[in-house]
Amino acid sequence: MKYIKIFAPATVANVSCGFDSLGFAVDAIGDEMTFTKTAEKGVQITNITGADLTYNVDENAASAVVKKMLHTANADFGIELTIHKGFSPGSGLGSSAASAAGAAFGTNQLLGDMYSNLELTKFAMFGEKVACGSAIADNVAAAIFGGFILVRSYEPLEIIKLPVPNELRVVAIHPQITIKTKDARDVLPTKIPLKDAVTQWANVGGLISGLYTDNYNLISNSLVDIVAEPARKSLIPFFDNIKNSALKAGALGAGISGSGPTVFALCKGDTVAKAVYKSIEESYKNTGIDFEMFVSKVSPEGIKIIK
Ligand code: HSE
Repeated sequence: MKYIKIFAPATVANVSCGFDSLGFAVDAIGDEMTFTKTAEKGVQITNITGADLTYNVDENAASAVVKKMLHTANADFGIELTIHKGFSPGSGLGSSAASAAGAAFGTNQLLGDMYSNLELTKFAMFGEKVACGSAIADNVAAAIFGGFILVRSYEPLEIIKLPVPNELRVVAIHPQITIKTKDARDVLPTKIPLKDAVTQWANVGGLISGLYTDNYNLISNSLVDIVAEPARKSLIPFFDNIKNSALKAGALGAGISGSGPTVFALCKGDTVAKAVYKSIEESYKNTGIDFEMFVSKVSPEGIKIIK
């Protein structure tokens, strides 16, 4: 294989109760990336569209991953990379993760598929570290594995692919402000009371059980975050309005997508998803803040080969 074009999806990390450990891939938006083999070794970014990102190969999340993989695999070729961002960095939808995970996937294809999804996740985590300073796995694993994932352990890294109930839909609103992951991590508590920890891990268990049993009520009751959301929600203008409008229109739950500012709502079925979309749109349109919205299925496959 000399050339590959891929789609790397946006992802929703945390999913309320699962800070740094749960995530899922969305169908509706993502990046397109191309990878072309070159006789000359090393990596080069030849074009970036859709966002203003660095061409410095050591500072760009995608090229940093390609470089590391080519070096680790002792490849006798290089790669030219193009990146078309389909959504903005700093949105909370795993922008750097799409770049890093897409880079790991695409490079692996040109290497003859030598790495497992778990190994690709580790390479992509390196890209996350380059982009935001922390080697977080929830977004990149969701993009690579597809569907819903649980990062069961960071050391050693263990990713569990979870089932996705058929009628699960996501509605998301992206207020057009930027929040840096690092800033959103700086506001988090470093310690939490035992009582809160019990609530949080019980909800993670409930959510996972709900996904396995198609139990939408249980999913709904478990979509609660008392650790990150209270600390972060003041970074997102009118967060409570968005959440209340989503719940009022029948969403199973709503919360901050990753480190924000995007807010996601999970819904059962297309009809409810449409109503939730309208209700959130209505609540936000007079705030004076521009926004974008989408409705999506949870993508069962994550990264896709386009050609
Ligand atoms: N789990 C991460 C966070 C996702 O919430 O900070 C952002 O990369």
